[in-house]
Amino acid sequence: MPNIDWSKLGFGFSDVNCHIRYTWKDGAWSAPEFVKDPYITMHIGASCLHYGQECFEGMKAFRQQDGKIVIFRPEENAKRMYRTAVRCVMPPVPEEMFIDAAEQVIRANAEYVPPYGTGGSLYLRPLLIGTGPQIGVAPAKEYTFMIMVMPVGAYYKGGLKPVRAVILDDWDRAAPHGMGDVKVGGNYAASLFAHEKAKRDGWPVELYLDAKSHKFVEEFSTSNFLGITKDGKYVTPDSCSVLPSVTNLSLREVAADLGMPVERRQIPYEEIREFAAVAALGTAVVITPVWEITRGCEVVKISDETEVHPTLLKLYQTVQGIQYGELPDTHGWCHEVKV
Ligand SMILES: Cc1ncc(COP(=O)(O)O)c(C=O)c1O
Repeated sequence: MPNIDWSKLGFGFSDVNCHIRYTWKDGAWSAPEFVKDPYITMHIGASCLHYGQECFEGMKAFRQQDGKIVIFRPEENAKRMYRTAVRCVMPPVPEEMFIDAAEQVIRANAEYVPPYGTGGSLYLRPLLIGTGPQIGVAPAKEYTFMIMVMPVGAYYKGGLKPVRAVILDDWDRAAPHGMGDVKVGGNYAASLFAHEKAKRDGWPVELYLDAKSHKFVEEFSTSNFLGITKDGKYVTPDSCSVLPSVTNLSLREVAADLGMPVERRQIPYEEIREFAAVAALGTAVVITPVWEITRGCEVVKISDETEVHPTLLKLYQTVQGIQYGELPDTHGWCHEVKV
């Protein structure tokens, strides 16, 4: 067992046994290599460095109550990375290879999957990059696919903590029919400036409106938007420039199981004032309640600073319960990794 204080783990890089690596050349993927060195060497003209030919994923493996290790819905991440690769003219990683790679890298680092009860998980970061030299703008001829892993801690050490959000109308994240619905590094580069400004000014997350009209809610910089209406509906934006979140997909199914009406539709900015609860949704945290949203001089207070709406709590506990094997996995979301 590695000498780790699981209770002190945050969300950051830490050294493990290895990552898994494949290269694509002459139309085919290589056999996997297990690489200890976290540095990679590539050609100075690599297309990922110049033209942003790169994409990534984020997913988690959990050690369950009975000791099993499971990955949460890896086939959804495989499909999203496939779509992203096609959008960026990169050779897509077949779903079976993606899942096999995830299983193999977890097996090689099994002792880094945090013990049950610590609230931690093993974060998996699949990465696909153009590594062949490409000086004129065109897709590269060589690619590298890797999955790095690292143990991460419980995000909430003492219950869900609501945050304040801000809308900064001077910056957009993703244009309609641009790249917002796929997971490329450029989307995060596009949001970094506003994100750092928001943080400096006291808001941990920023919320984006649609880039064309600034009338409709889109998503936060690293998570989807959820509104709970006063009559108990689950409402989330339908937009071609929002990343389809695996967490949101799962929570919509959980909400439907709980008998909640689920709506995917345009959400006018003004409707924020009407919601009983608002939250940010994503793999890192599952649900982050948002208690207040500021836009220019307007401050919309959704709840008290420490209040967590019971529906958000129920959704959170259900997904975490399934992930840790405490609740029945009725949808078959947990993919077991035999070690
Ligand atoms: C822009 C953006 N939206 C939403 C999400 C949430 O997606 P998921 O639930 O698949 O982690 C993420 C995180 O991956 C993200 O970066």
